[in-house]
Order: sequence, then C-alpha cells, then structure tokens
Amino acid sequence: MKPKKLLPAKMLSGEITLPGDKSISHRAIMLGAIARGKTSVRGLLDCDDCRYTARAFKDMGLRVARKGGITVIEGAGLRGLKRPRAPINVGNSGTSMRLLAGILAGQGFGAVLTGNEGLLRRPMKRIVDPLAMMGVNIAAGPDGLPPIKINGAAMKAISYKMPVSSAQVKSAILFAGLYASGTTTVNEKVKSRDHTERMMKYFGADVRTNGLAVSVSGGRELAGREIEIPGDISSASFFIAGAVLLAGSKINIRKVSINPTRVGILNILSAMGARVKIVNKVDAFEPYADIEVESGPINGVEIGQRDIPGIIDELPVIFVLASLAKGRTVIKGAEELRVKETDRIDSMMYNLGRMGANISVDRGTIVIDGVERLRGAELKSYGDHRTVMSMAIAALTASGASSIDDVECVSKSLPEFFELLSKLRR
Ligand code: S3P
Repeated sequence: MKPKKLLPAKMLSGEITLPGDKSISHRAIMLGAIARGKTSVRGLLDCDDCRYTARAFKDMGLRVARKGGITVIEGAGLRGLKRPRAPINVGNSGTSMRLLAGILAGQGFGAVLTGNEGLLRRPMKRIVDPLAMMGVNIAAGPDGLPPIKINGAAMKAISYKMPVSSAQVKSAILFAGLYASGTTTVNEKVKSRDHTERMMKYFGADVRTNGLAVSVSGGRELAGREIEIPGDISSASFFIAGAVLLAGSKINIRKVSINPTRVGILNILSAMGARVKIVNKVDAFEPYADIEVESGPINGVEIGQRDIPGIIDELPVIFVLASLAKGRTVIKGAEELRVKETDRIDSMMYNLGRMGANISVDRGTIVIDGVERLRGAELKSYGDHRTVMSMAIAALTASGASSIDDVECVSKSLPEFFELLSKLRR
C-alpha cells in the first residue's frame, strides 16, 4: 500500500453532516432482525463493521436491503433466525462479535463466530463467562480468544456484576436476557453507553434502568420500528479537535448524537477551555443536536478512571489535543485502550512521539505535557481507524508534511473521513 501524505492546514471552516452513529447502527440491525415485522432505518452507517453485522443476519436467512437512505430489515422474531451454513465472519468488528454472541445464545442451533486476524487477538472471555453462567454452551479458543462456538440452550436469568466497564459486554448479556427465563440484571461500576437499553425499550422490550443497574425480562417478542440514526459523535470528535486546534477555524457539525453517555468528549473539551457549543437540540429516543466549534487556546486536564467509559473511543484524539494544550494532562485508568483494534496507548505514543509530543506512561497513568507545535513525521496506522484519524488531525497542525503507511482502515467506521476533511480544510 502507498503511504498517504498528510499536509498541514491553515484552518477548518464550514458545515458538515456525518453518517449515522456506529453503535446505534449495529443495534438497529440486530434488534430489527430479532423483532417481528419490518424495521426501517434512516441514516444507517454504511461502513465495514455494520456491513459485517448485516451480512451475519443475511447468513441466517434474513433480508436486509438498502434503498436510498433507508435500510429495511425484515425481522424474524426472537427465535426465527436460521442456522448459518458456515462460521459467521465479522471481520474486525468487536461490537458485532460480542453482541451477536448474546443473540446466538438464544437460538436453537449451533454457530461459530470468527473474524480477521486483528479480531482474533481481542479478549472474549468477558462475554463467554457471563453467557456460560446463564447456561449457554459457549467456548472461546485458548486464552479466551475467538473463534467462539455457541450452542443455544434454555437460559436462566442472572444478576451480573461487570468486572470491566464495557457496553459490549453489557449488551451481550442484555441480548441473551431477552431469551432467558426471568429477569436478567447487569450492574456496572461506571455507566457505559446505553444505546442497547434505549433501543430495546423502543422496540417494546421490558427494560428497566435503576442507577447503574439495567434489567431486562426474557420471553417478550419485540415489534419492528422506524428509526432515525443521528451522526456519530466519535467521528465528530476528530473534526472538532481539528477546529479547536487550528487558529481561525469555525465549523458546524449537524445532527450529531448527544446521548448523555457519549458526550464525555464535549465535557473534557469544555474542561480544557475549548469553545464548543451544542445548539438546536432535538429530544428523540436518541437525542441529537448541532455542534458549533471555534478555535482557541486549551489547557491540560485531569482525566480519571470514572471518565474513561464515556470517552473510550475519543481518547486517541484527546491525546492529540493534550499534546498541544497548555500545561499537563494526566489520564488514569485507561488500560482498556490496550485491547481495542490495536493497543492505542502504544500506537498513539509512537506516533505522537515521532511528531515531537511529550507523552509518557507510568504504571497505567498517561502523562502528556503540551508542546507549542508538532512536527511532520512518518506515521504508522497499526491498521486502526481511530489511530489514523487522530494522527491525520495532528498532522493538520504540524510544522511540516507527514505521511502515514495505510489509511484504508478508516472504512471500518467512517469511509468518508478524508473527503469530509478536505471539505472543511482551508
Ligand atoms: C461499543 C462499545 C465500546 C467502544 C466500541 C463500540 C459499542 O467498547 O469502544 O467502539 O457499540 O457497544 P467497550 O464497550 O468494549 O468498551
């Protein structure tokens, strides 16, 4: 693959609308598939990961078809999926694998979930353990890595305390809970994104939230719905960071999800002193708004373990912001970054280090001392979409040209990233 040149920009300016939120898109396909009747989704994200989720249900006998901006899923009901003929391959999509495991747990057939080389290195014990407690016949490979073999069984409800804060784990258990006899409860230490519980309720499931506990009753069929998916705030965060950092910038990102479990990035930016405004709020089942950003100086910030679940996907770009902020940023409890598409602590330290940032890690605590300017450098993608997009933003601010070895992986979540960036760059 040819490296991509990343040139500095003067500023970002203008207005963009982003494609639909990735987490909400996965769930819309999944719940549409196991509901009864038709689900129509406007604004479903068309990216590699969501295609893998759609393909999985096609492999299990469903029709998922896109026409114009609308995707129609003909739901099969809770137990109407058909046994796939081959292992279900979900590429590099951790969300697909973990959430599908919860759905397969309730089916009357055996199936195997597998993925690409990157996904085969990611931990699955975190979902295998609770699903096995529910009575599912489930096994991962050595060290708890995929592929995962699942044989659906009659399941019993459990009450589960999550050892790691993870929306994917919580969602896998809640999906399995739809099939279990009794009420399944998941207790979190810190609230992770709540798209599953919101959308399950929207489809008619009996879901109750009580502080950090979420419960779902098993056995109730869901009904197909019409859904509109707002723009992805994780994708927005790259453009927001670029506009904050490049003097003279002013951008407007329209119709972005402002689900309270996802706006951590906006809270961190406001603690850093950035000029970011949320306007035109709409209170739908997944609320959204326009986000206006102007450039301005920012300060270092303290980020604690409790903040992490709300900014887990935005941390790489927060590293970039912190590298150019005034003073010190300290980030604690971000170990989960080590088991994302790549080890994002290592990938970002390597790349930002090459650009002259002052970033170090000591027993899990990341310390970043802001510098005046980054310099252009040869960068590495590690095959990770968010490392690429974060570094593309860092490169906009640099004193010289940069290059990165491979940018194709942005298609995992935002295939249009570079087009959108060139629309804003001045
Ligand atoms: C996601 C949850 C997060 C996030 C991932 C998408 C989801 O993972 O990093 O990109 O859609 O539930 P964890 O819940 O494992 O932290």
